[in-house]
Amino acid sequence: MKVFLNIRIPEVGMQLLKQSDIELIFPKEETLTHEKWLSYCQQCDIILNVGHNAFDKTFFEACPNVKAISLFSVGFDHVDVISANQHGVKVGNTPDVLSRATSDTAFLLMQSVARRAMFNFETVKNGSWGSFNPINNLGQELYGKTLGIFGLGRIGYEMAKKCRYAFDMNIIYHNRKGNPIAEKELGAQYVSFEELIEMSDVLSVHANYTSDQQNMFNKEVFERMKPNAIFINTARGGFQDETDLYEAITKGKIWGAGLDVTNPEPMKKSSPLLNLPTVCVLPHIGSATIDARNGMAKRAVENVLAFVKGLEMPYPIN
Ligand code: DGY
Repeated sequence: MKVFLNIRIPEVGMQLLKQSDIELIFPKEETLTHEKWLSYCQQCDIILNVGHNAFDKTFFEACPNVKAISLFSVGFDHVDVISANQHGVKVGNTPDVLSRATSDTAFLLMQSVARRAMFNFETVKNGSWGSFNPINNLGQELYGKTLGIFGLGRIGYEMAKKCRYAFDMNIIYHNRKGNPIAEKELGAQYVSFEELIEMSDVLSVHANYTSDQQNMFNKEVFERMKPNAIFINTARGGFQDETDLYEAITKGKIWGAGLDVTNPEPMKKSSPLLNLPTVCVLPHIGSATIDARNGMAKRAVENVLAFVKGLEMPYPIN
């Protein structure tokens, strides 16, 4: 079977692919136009996709030969699962192996925002450190505060665990369904969305993104949050309205924000959010550790190889 791999993955995955008897198609071009990407996909049976190329109705209609898609990601908001099912296309992703790394990023952002770390780092770099002043550069402590998790799945659980044990934070969460393990092990408490936004000192987004949730963290929501609240998002940038987020921070409705995902991506360097002392933005590096990316490479290839052998993918989403 022909497998199209659009971008090289870590060596552990490349080796597994090379040792198998698949025909690996790798682009000659350094960057692919959408047309070129599509024309590669049209020639292949399986796509091992790195990045957020859209697998929508148009894609499935244009690529009738594609039988399976293995995503090099846990998120699958770029896949129209209904269309995939209609076309009989199996889709797999890479869960679990990036939960720690992504939650570490959320934890890092939370602390950076609480202590204005990036802004203070800039003052060192640009020579405006100045002399000691007891009322300058003050941050806030996180001990005993309330962490609200929007979407308490695998990554949210890891974030909650760190916050519970590092800062003795109280955990509240809002989900489609309850998480009895988090309730038992971390004392997490299920709350309504309204309670989540009103009670959280730190609100961290970890939910799977769907288009009906676009801009759900907007002016109306930020205005109901606490003035000391920190908004963290390591899931998908589409969740937040960044104009409203900027306004909420500058008007003192919330304290600040830590974003590993932006809307759009990449964030424009002219975004006014980048000038705020209580904002920290990272370029979607949630899973960017050697360990997590090796794990993702293995899982993505395992999905491909299982499909080739006529087996169920070990990490299916449909
Ligand atoms: C994921 O795995 O979903 C990460 O966000 C990278 O796309």
